[in-house]
Amino acid sequence: MNDSQDPLLMDHEADGIRELDNKLPRWWVWLFWGCNLFAVFYLGYYHVLGSGNMMVKEYQQEMKVGDAIKATALARFEQSMDTAEPSKDPVVLAEGKAIFLQMCAPCHRSDAGGLVGPNLTDDYWIHGPLFKDNLKTIYNGVPEKGMLTWKTLLKPSQIYAVGSYIYTLRGSNPPNPKPREDQVQPDKPNEYE
Ligand code: HEC
Repeated sequence: MNDSQDPLLMDHEADGIRELDNKLPRWWVWLFWGCNLFAVFYLGYYHVLGSGNMMVKEYQQEMKVGDAIKATALARFEQSMDTAEPSKDPVVLAEGKAIFLQMCAPCHRSDAGGLVGPNLTDDYWIHGPLFKDNLKTIYNGVPEKGMLTWKTLLKPSQIYAVGSYIYTLRGSNPPNPKPREDQVQPDKPNEYE
């Protein structure tokens, strides 16, 4: 090896172009071998020993953490439904109204007077007249009757918001309401009767 800083002209030539055999800068050589060394350890750690988390495993772990957070939130909401009071907070009610118009109005009508789903403004309820009855019906749905199970589609806070909103529509007397349907389940006595 020639350590001289002078470039060495190599002995080949193409169309008058000559090549200089410059010495590679030290920092470049260190980086090159450093990368090689890193690659060897990386390969060994992740692919041979399987010690580190590959992307799929990392994803699955994050999903597991996410599912646990969701399950806890749902369990907490389920426990709170029995004692929940409808919100009077305008922000919550506005959120509930937006959800209602987007998700519920197609079946219950935008004034909640009833369409496919029952009237939500009168005093007659299929699944009970209390706020918590509404919350539970929204949360669990009545799949066999066409009422969706909203716990898989809405967050607990959204179910609470839309439940609170429809509570404000009680007694609003919209025009041409759907007739009462609570007789469908005579085994469930209605508190208003
Ligand atoms: C695909 C149509 C459909 C959509 C969308 C829908 N519902 Fe319903 N809903 C129904 C039907 C049908 C029933 C009656 C179930 C029964 O007969 O047991 C019902 C029942 C209810 C009840 C109970 C009424 C009672 O008399 O006890 C509430 C409360 C309710 N829905 C709220 C909502 C809310 C809030 C939303 C939006 C998040 C919503 N629904 C979206 C079809 C729907």
